[in-house]
Amino acid sequence: MSQTPLPAPPTHLDLSNIQRDILGGLPKRTETCIFFKISDDVDAFRKHLFQLIPHITTVSQVQKDQNAIKEHRRQNQPGLFPLAGLNIAFSQAGLVKLGVTDDIKDSAFTAGQLADAPNLQDVPISWDLAFKRVIHGVILVTGDSHESVDKIIQHVEALFGVHLPHATILEVLRIRGDVRPGAEKGHEHFGFNDGISQPGVQGFDKQLNPGQVAVKPGVILVGEDGDSVTGRPTWAKDGSFLVFRRLAQLVPEFNQFLADNPIVLPGLSPEQGSELLGARLVGRWKSGAPVDITPLQDDPALGNDPTRNNNFSYAGEQDSETRCPFAAHTRKTNPRDDLEQLTPPTSVDPFRIIRRAIPYGPELSKGEIAEKKTIHDRGLLFICYQSNIENGFQFIQKNWANNPAFPPPPPNPPKAIQPGFDPIIGQAAGAAARTMSGDQPGSQASQLSLPIEFVISRGGEYFFTPSISALRNTLARHAR
Ligand code: HEM
Repeated sequence: MSQTPLPAPPTHLDLSNIQRDILGGLPKRTETCIFFKISDDVDAFRKHLFQLIPHITTVSQVQKDQNAIKEHRRQNQPGLFPLAGLNIAFSQAGLVKLGVTDDIKDSAFTAGQLADAPNLQDVPISWDLAFKRVIHGVILVTGDSHESVDKIIQHVEALFGVHLPHATILEVLRIRGDVRPGAEKGHEHFGFNDGISQPGVQGFDKQLNPGQVAVKPGVILVGEDGDSVTGRPTWAKDGSFLVFRRLAQLVPEFNQFLADNPIVLPGLSPEQGSELLGARLVGRWKSGAPVDITPLQDDPALGNDPTRNNNFSYAGEQDSETRCPFAAHTRKTNPRDDLEQLTPPTSVDPFRIIRRAIPYGPELSKGEIAEKKTIHDRGLLFICYQSNIENGFQFIQKNWANNPAFPPPPPNPPKAIQPGFDPIIGQAAGAAARTMSGDQPGSQASQLSLPIEFVISRGGEYFFTPSISALRNTLARHAR
């Protein structure tokens, strides 16, 4: 199967004006997120921000890097091609501090993530103190090694005078994420291949993999065709809302749960039964192969093949969870054509997000494996982009993952089934007990009790990643 060429782009996107993490992604084996406050000398900060602009990585770098990597390989150069990236984003408090008080028309962003915590069913006691404090912005630095990232950070710190008495940013929190080592590269800490299914973006992606859908650019970029909100300030065009969440993962506890509840089927060993349960909780096997295509055994060649690993839909299965449970993480967070049976038929396009997560924390220690208990903090630095948090992250978390009645049953179902919670990220009010249906491939009536939440939110913030022209002409204005 080959990639599907897209028709000519409907819009011309100015790729040199868009920060790269939004489209294409910052190149990374490691990423450091520096959360900061702006000092009271706002004019001096603006001056420094203005000086930072030429160092910010834009989407136009994607093509240049791809060509350079090809050349590096062609010349058989040793090691990895050195890649680096730098992006910056601001919270509502940060925009206000900079005197930018226009209504950007996203109430989740304006209120901030701490105010949104009850909507998300987050438990504030689990939040890091830093995310309960005021944060004005975040600087993302990515690269191929800690050394190369640290070098960029030193430049950034020097620029903002961080070690001088008149520093214009004050660090609130610094978190580092790393791609996992060896064969676990690209896999999150529960062991599943991550970052497979992303929407294509019309006007940017020139080719789509089979099964991949291209959304209008305005689903991700403010002010572009497909942005459902009107009347936003013109400077916000070509920016995108960045949702940051620090999500701790209880890996030994998750593994123990799978070991204690293997799916029993003729010919499956208990280990294979546990693998199958894990695959049905996520919607994909650890290799990335979708259970919808290969419901009873993993197929690593399929999982690693981008021309096949996203080529499925739930069409014709809207009343069935034989292949994939309704509550499986991937079906909850992107129900594909499950919603087309609603009256009127609903498209998932406005609810798509672009994910840029990276794992944080160490690999499991011997002690944790022996004790079957988390001792060291690890998880996912979850980052996603959208033009509208209320349709994107907030909607997915609140209306889908945390909603046991989602997806709704098809008209005249043979038997109404309550799908239950997304077992990976679904959160119940008051941390109440969670269940999901369809864990057993052969039984629609099966209900699985999820004893604890395996993912715990340690908090986060909502940011806006502005275009380069917005940085130059609005956020850092008067600073030359
Ligand atoms: C620690 C927390 C999380 C883990 C371990 C996790 C893991 C995964 C994995 C393994 C996949 C399948 C691979 C892929 O298609 O990329 C996936 C897909 C996905 N996840 Fe998550 N995820 C987490 C948090 C979240 C959150 C907070 C959201 C949004 C609220 C989210 C939204 C999605 C979406 C939209 C997909 C793609 C589904 C599809 O298009 O088929 N995830 N995740």
